[in-house]
Amino acid sequence: MVAAVVARGEFEVRRFESIDSTNRYLLDEARAGAPEGVVAVADHQTAGRGRLGRVWEAPPGSALLCSVLLRPALPVERLHLAVAVVALAARDALGGRPTLKWPNDLLLGDRKLAGVLAEADLPAVVVGIGINLTWAPPGAACVGDDADREVVLDALLSSLASLYGQWPVVAERYAAECSTVGQRVRVELGDETFEGMATAVTPEGHLVVDGRTVTAGDVVHLRPA
Ligand code: BTN
Repeated sequence: MVAAVVARGEFEVRRFESIDSTNRYLLDEARAGAPEGVVAVADHQTAGRGRLGRVWEAPPGSALLCSVLLRPALPVERLHLAVAVVALAARDALGGRPTLKWPNDLLLGDRKLAGVLAEADLPAVVVGIGINLTWAPPGAACVGDDADREVVLDALLSSLASLYGQWPVVAERYAAECSTVGQRVRVELGDETFEGMATAVTPEGHLVVDGRTVTAGDVVHLRPA
């Protein structure tokens, strides 16, 4: 059950103490006709969704768990920019400290701080983000004990409002700020894995590795040999 609904600029923020998944909730709302700009925020998720069918878990109150319902005017091949705009807004909200790892992560150093998950029922796209604030799973990073969820949420939504729809700017910023560029990487596709040098992000938000454009998949940053 929604605990509170608050208007924040162009967003309508719906808060939950506990929910299965804020992404699941907004996809259902989108299918029922909810408009762009609805945001769902939860203290706790019982079935948080991660990429590639993984689960996303965090103790109650320890993370920013939020999703935003977008209806972006983007062709399918540029939909990664909907992930990019939320990742950039999160980076801005955290003072530019985290780096952006293609396709969907924010890192502190080489540890994962946050993950972004986009799920589409076109023309609606729900983009969810989980940011570890005061707790991190083993091997991951968190912002720190003094992280304030409301401050981070406000800053994220404010940056998102100013970037949203500025797709050439989003593409340029994402390409310039993506820390995967310039790294040797292992690319894990469903049926193939290969290694190479990541040299660029295209205007569609895809990664170029040894001249090959990768539109989806997982990437591991490899340390120099
Ligand atoms: C990843 O695998 O790295 C992406 C994780 C995305 C988690 C967030 S938490 C808020 C939103 N609701 C979900 O069920 N998942 C996303």
